[in-house]
Amino acid sequence: MAEPFPVGYLNGVYLPLASARISPFDRGFLFADGVYEVVPVHRGRPFLLRAHLDRLARSLAAIRLDNPHTHTEWANIVGELAVRAAAPEQLVYLQVTRGAEAGRNHPFPQGVAPTVFAFTGPYPAPSPEVLAQGVVGVTREDIRWARCDIKSIALLANVLLRQEAGDAGGSEAILLRDGWLTEGSSSTAFVVLGDRLITPPNDPRILPGTTREAVLELADTLAQEIRPIPAAELAAADEVWIASAGRGVLPVTRLDGRGVGSGRPGPHWRRIYAALQAHLDAVASQPPL
Ligand code: PDD
Repeated sequence: MAEPFPVGYLNGVYLPLASARISPFDRGFLFADGVYEVVPVHRGRPFLLRAHLDRLARSLAAIRLDNPHTHTEWANIVGELAVRAAAPEQLVYLQVTRGAEAGRNHPFPQGVAPTVFAFTGPYPAPSPEVLAQGVVGVTREDIRWARCDIKSIALLANVLLRQEAGDAGGSEAILLRDGWLTEGSSSTAFVVLGDRLITPPNDPRILPGTTREAVLELADTLAQEIRPIPAAELAAADEVWIASAGRGVLPVTRLDGRGVGSGRPGPHWRRIYAALQAHLDAVASQPPL
């Protein structure tokens, strides 16, 4: 995320981001005991907001933390931050942790209010160079935990894997668990083979992506297969895409030092990218929820 806009939200209060303060005993800080969402704002409108808030509710339920807000209240927080930031393209971050007690104890504390934090930053639109050339991916063994379907703030494995990709000249780690494609370190992964679009099924090994659903809906010229993808198919792909709220859908044109397909952004990616842009224009005036 680029440098955020100077507006924030903390526990019911809008405030200058620079003055937001939490306790060092916050369980998010001590245990990574919390969950988050990243909601894109396109054309001034939160995109796929219901899907993000549904997933936030599922993540909270999975960690047995009561949802502090209704969808409408969350939508108001996202909307208010977006209005205060006054930019058409943004990325809004929402985080809920199990709050702060005095001390460090593994069991859930009783009667402690959650910490709710939100801020927004400029949407990092892909550069013309990225759109023309695609991005470089690096495969890595997926070393994450067994509940990757929870959008947990415990992202150490993701961070280490992404850093390794960067150290190797890439901008995303494409993860393989026991020889099967799972996803990117912060994105859903798609493979195009001929005129088939393939992506792994949602299960505890991957985060059910919101952008994934939009891509599957819009990619109506391709046959779709939701099934496990062995490493050999990834290596033989005509196109590889990554998709997320923060990056939209981007072509991976080099993987582990070799060109993917032609080594250039492929025709199917061009079509889905254009379809997504057109869709953002089409829904721009619709209510966000
Ligand atoms: N990451 N898989 C992982 C592990 C992710 O972290 C993300 C998103 C996705 C894509 O989900 P969505 O399309 O709903 O953004 C898949 C966010 C953007 C982040 O951590 O910044």
